[in-house]
Amino acid sequence: MDLTVKVGRTVLPNPVGVASGTFGYGSEYERLIDLDRVGALFTKAVTIEFRPGNQVPRIVETSSGMLNSIGLANVGVERFIAEKLPFLSTLSCAVFANVAGSSVDEYIEVVERLDPHRLSGYEINLSCPNVKEGCIAFGTSPAQVERLTAAVRARTGAPLVVKLTPNVTDITEIARAAEAGGADAVTCINTVLGMVIDVKTKRTILPGGTGGLSGPGILPIGLAATYRVARAVGIPVFGVGGIMDADGAIQYLLAGASAVQLGTANFADPSTCGRVLDGIVRYMDENGLERVSDFGRFID
Ligand SMILES: Cc1cc2nc3c(=O)[nH]c(=O)nc-3n(C[C@H](O)[C@H](O)[C@H](O)COP(=O)(O)O)c2cc1C
Repeated sequence: MDLTVKVGRTVLPNPVGVASGTFGYGSEYERLIDLDRVGALFTKAVTIEFRPGNQVPRIVETSSGMLNSIGLANVGVERFIAEKLPFLSTLSCAVFANVAGSSVDEYIEVVERLDPHRLSGYEINLSCPNVKEGCIAFGTSPAQVERLTAAVRARTGAPLVVKLTPNVTDITEIARAAEAGGADAVTCINTVLGMVIDVKTKRTILPGGTGGLSGPGILPIGLAATYRVARAVGIPVFGVGGIMDADGAIQYLLAGASAVQLGTANFADPSTCGRVLDGIVRYMDENGLERVSDFGRFID
């Protein structure tokens, strides 16, 4: 059975990745799970400067998942290189740095500083709903997405994965723009815009009002987006959103994803990605699938 998945020049040992912002910089999970079983690790967003993130509370639990407004809190690119990369470079899985910025130049600068360190690739986060300075405009405009992707593409030969926001009218247009700009893959989806109000205080729980919904409630949204995007582009799609078990991951692979990422599930139970991988292998065995791409042939 062949579990590998190719993204540009990078080969993932298996199709089960861990999603940006839910797995820190990897070392946080070192003592909890066998990191050798992770197919691809997507780091917390990396920006030029250190970002303390948004005011607390930044997380609210809902009946079907969690709402967050972290605000891209991260150590900044220089500390990422000095303090986080040495550990990440010891891992056998693919490691993608999730890159964010508030202008095209900032994305380019992060990628240029990281490039000599030979990561497996970059995941361009176009879609963070919590950054006010313009990130949201990048992710919602096909022209901007193509421009940003092409600008980063011109600076690096490493695989580029563009992460899409579901908070748009037509996600397939954005996916096509990323492909036209030179992306090697897309990630589908980031969190869904949401809100929670405390009826006692009559205020939103998150200080900024809205946040990004993740977890089980968004699985059907991510799945429909993945299904549509996989038919709109010719590059691999990472399916992400609400996967809590092997069944969820298999649904994404059947919908047309080449690989999956688990996010919120890592908080609920860090061992989920190992169990999801075991479940995928069992399903492939029971259904006579020889390679991960075989999942794609069942649904038109
Ligand atoms: C606490 C938290 C932080 C996140 N931080 C990032 C981030 O820095 N960059 C990014 O592209 N996505 C980020 N995400 C989005 C996840 O990578 C993922 O796309 C989303 O949570 C949907 O997947 P899930 O339902 O499996 O969690 C974050 C999600 C959560 C819950």
